[in-house]
Amino acid sequence: MSNTILVGSQWGDEGKGKIIDVLTGGVDIVVRSQGGNNAGHTIVDGDKKYVLHLIPSGILRKGKICVIGNGVVIDPVALVEEIQGLRKRGIKVDKNLLISDSAHLVMPYHRSIDERREALKGKNKIGTTKRGIGPAYGDKAARTGLRMADLIRPEVFKQKLALRIRENNAVIKSLGGKPVNGAKVLADYIAAAKVLKPFVTNTVTYLHKAMESKKEILFEGAQGTFLDIDHGTYPFVTSSNTTSGGACTGSGVAPNRIDEVIGVVKAYTTRVGEGPLPTEEEVIGDMLHNMGREFGSTTGRARRCGWFDAVATRYATMVNGVDVMAITNLDGLDGLEEIRICTGYRIDGKGPVLDTPPTDAGELARCRPVYTSMPGWLTPTDSIRKYKDLPVKARRYAETLAKLSGAKLAIVSVGPGRDQTIHL
Ligand code: GDP
Ligand code: IMO
Ligand code: MG
Repeated sequence: MSNTILVGSQWGDEGKGKIIDVLTGGVDIVVRSQGGNNAGHTIVDGDKKYVLHLIPSGILRKGKICVIGNGVVIDPVALVEEIQGLRKRGIKVDKNLLISDSAHLVMPYHRSIDERREALKGKNKIGTTKRGIGPAYGDKAARTGLRMADLIRPEVFKQKLALRIRENNAVIKSLGGKPVNGAKVLADYIAAAKVLKPFVTNTVTYLHKAMESKKEILFEGAQGTFLDIDHGTYPFVTSSNTTSGGACTGSGVAPNRIDEVIGVVKAYTTRVGEGPLPTEEEVIGDMLHNMGREFGSTTGRARRCGWFDAVATRYATMVNGVDVMAITNLDGLDGLEEIRICTGYRIDGKGPVLDTPPTDAGELARCRPVYTSMPGWLTPTDSIRKYKDLPVKARRYAETLAKLSGAKLAIVSVGPGRDQTIHL
């Protein structure tokens, strides 16, 4: 393996954490470069389950370095909790974690503003995770953000914070919310800074030195292509570039240092939060929820579910430059007699067939899928470990998804566990 970017090619929760954990064995460093603790990446190691929000999914493997890059927005209190939670479970978090000094902070006022804006939007809400992600990236773009470099300098932080509290409390009041207590924020953040300071460094120079000494890097995407602020179903998106370009800007590693892009897809489609989802189908949701699956890793919300949308994944291949594809949750379809795949859209079910998603979210919401269907394999796949041992109908299905998406099939996952992974 060399330097690889892994992205979600759908609406998030594709199983990126699981695939990162599997691939981490072959690399030296795992980097998060965007998003914040809106992410929830699940890793199942034997009978132990971990859900990571800010810390890269490489942390569970001994000898691997994990980097939280400059493009991530960090809630320091949440990060300390995550570090301590892992340590309590016997996972080492020490010199194996580095945090960029230029990563922006998520502040309690960001969370309040996120919550208030959502409440005021009423039925037009985005359905955010309410972790303050949008307002934090908003401050970054407005050049009013606070960064890790500020947090670890108590006097600087105190001064800058006072001004930020005043301004943001005025905003919170105008949105009908309760102002945050500046003294408490200062105390909580200074306490978090004490824990985090040893991890904070210039991660750009670290990564470049590592590459000079031939270390291999895996970039762990958060969210998914259609939650990208530029390429997703705006405004029903998150506030960062979740596509492969975000891995470069969010880490300071240049595009010509990247060797491969892996796109992860579920064998069907899910989305949590509001916004268009052309292939949404209640029966798929009911089936998966009855199996105890497809509840959000961060918020616990039931995910909306539907058939595989190849119009979307083909677009994702294009935007991300996906070379190879990992399909997860194939086992979720084991019980179906017939499986549908969306190959095109027609607006209101009429007119010409579209092979790329319309830019306007309203228009996308009017799109009706054009389906092709394939026979199901009606056989459990979760204990299969070799590609040739998968039922032929399951192989044909996986190959069709890859072909329609325009990428080479490399991995098929048939369960949440590390070993439930088939490499082609
Ligand atoms: P991420 O955000 O992309 O890392 O995905 P999440 O962890 O939020 O959601 C994916 C869910 O699917 C988690 O509960 C995983 O444990 C689970 N998962 C991943 N791959 C498979 C698979 O192949 N089969 C099954 N049954 N579950 C899987
Ligand atoms: P991982 O990394 C799925 C969704 C939210 C909401 C929208 C905006 O686990 O795949 P935000 O809080 O970011 O402002 O919410 O984005 N969202 C995710 N959906 N997986 C995620 O992360 C998500 N992170 C944000 O549900 O619709
Ligand atoms: Mg997730």
